[in-house]
Amino acid sequence: MKALILVGGFGTRLRPLTLSVPKPLVDFGNKPMILHQIEALKEVGVTEVVLAINYQPEVYIIEGMEHQLFSLSLLASNTCISVDILLIFILIYCWFACFFVVQVMLNFLKDFENKLDIKITCSQETEPLGTAGPLALARDKLIDGSGDPFFVLNSDVISEYPFAELIKFHKSHGGEATIMVTKVDEPSKYGVVVMEEGTGKVERFVEKPKIFVGNKINAGIYLLNPSVLDRIQLKPTSIEKEVFPKIADERKLYAMVLPGFWMDIGQPRDYITGLRLYLDSLRKKASVKLASGAHILGNVLIHDSAVIGEGCLIGPDVSIGPGCVVEAGVRLSRCTVMRGVRIKKHACISSSIIGWHSTVGQWARVENMTILGEDVHVCDEIYSNGGVVLPHKEIKSSILKPEIVM
Ligand code: GDD
Ligand code: MG
Repeated sequence: MKALILVGGFGTRLRPLTLSVPKPLVDFGNKPMILHQIEALKEVGVTEVVLAINYQPEVYIIEGMEHQLFSLSLLASNTCISVDILLIFILIYCWFACFFVVQVMLNFLKDFENKLDIKITCSQETEPLGTAGPLALARDKLIDGSGDPFFVLNSDVISEYPFAELIKFHKSHGGEATIMVTKVDEPSKYGVVVMEEGTGKVERFVEKPKIFVGNKINAGIYLLNPSVLDRIQLKPTSIEKEVFPKIADERKLYAMVLPGFWMDIGQPRDYITGLRLYLDSLRKKASVKLASGAHILGNVLIHDSAVIGEGCLIGPDVSIGPGCVVEAGVRLSRCTVMRGVRIKKHACISSSIIGWHSTVGQWARVENMTILGEDVHVCDEIYSNGGVVLPHKEIKSSILKPEIVM
């Protein structure tokens, strides 16, 4: 079987982490987000994963790089560089930044193809093709003559990925496409699905409805027959607005309620909530080792290579990545500490994300959705209340209210 993962956009809402790596490669529970999906696909016998990528320099210029543009304009005003030269710098920078993003992705593919023994390929758009167009572009990769259905996943959703159940249900109903649905409190930000309770047959699919239609939403996980590809042309197309409603009208679209947890982790608050749900689900699977001991509260994931000092109190809902050093007397709760971070004595971190290779000084207090980019250094005794800090910065004075530090 084949699978396609939609990897569009720049993850602007997960900045500054996405200034260092593309969103699907941001660590979640100690491994890149997309790896959770690829591993689960491998488990049900998927042999090839196609990453549908749409990183383009133009988009980078317009949407992605305000922070860099701001820094460059500061540079220009400090050094009297003319606006023309500045613009040329910006263009060159954006082309390189975009090239870098795709290159990082390609290197990642090579690494994990070997580790997981699964074929991972890229299908790269020259213009954003939306959520359906990429399927038409990758048509030849998805059809292998077997007639098997293929998976399509949004790259920013995390769940237990019950793919085996999805295959079983898809085979049982004989329709053309199956989508997984989950219940949420705020359905208006999602695609809402109205379905027959007994059979799962979808009656209506309404993307981001303005009025209440129902509370079961599209979880961004699909199993589609190859015939769905005949409905999609090679042009920007929305699967949610242009494809699913038509299949539903023909009564060939089915929905299965996703067992277990689900979260779109494309923004920091949801990322932290997603970590809680993910660790909770690991706790239920006896095979996975969460940390234990007098210094651990609730669910905590600590990489084997991390070093934890004396007298710390860690948890609940914390993940600590490879090579981290947590010195004595540190307090951590509801946070992610990524690879290579050092947290010095008696620091206290809650509801925050600490990016790769950063340092938090002793007696520092970091809280309220503080997000430190890669290689940020928070000096001793500093307080951060919701600071969003760009990579490679040194924080020498406290951040008293939520703000971006460039
Ligand atoms: N390759 C490619 N090209 N991928 C794209 C493009 C594109 O032009 N546009 C969006 N994507 C990818 C995104 O990276 C993401 O993985 C997926 O398509 C969905 O796009 P989002 O921008 O995250 O959409 P959303 O979160 O507002 O809504 C979608 O997800 C909800 C679940 O989280 C919809 O599918 C909703 O129906 C759904 O409920
Ligand atoms: Mg999304």
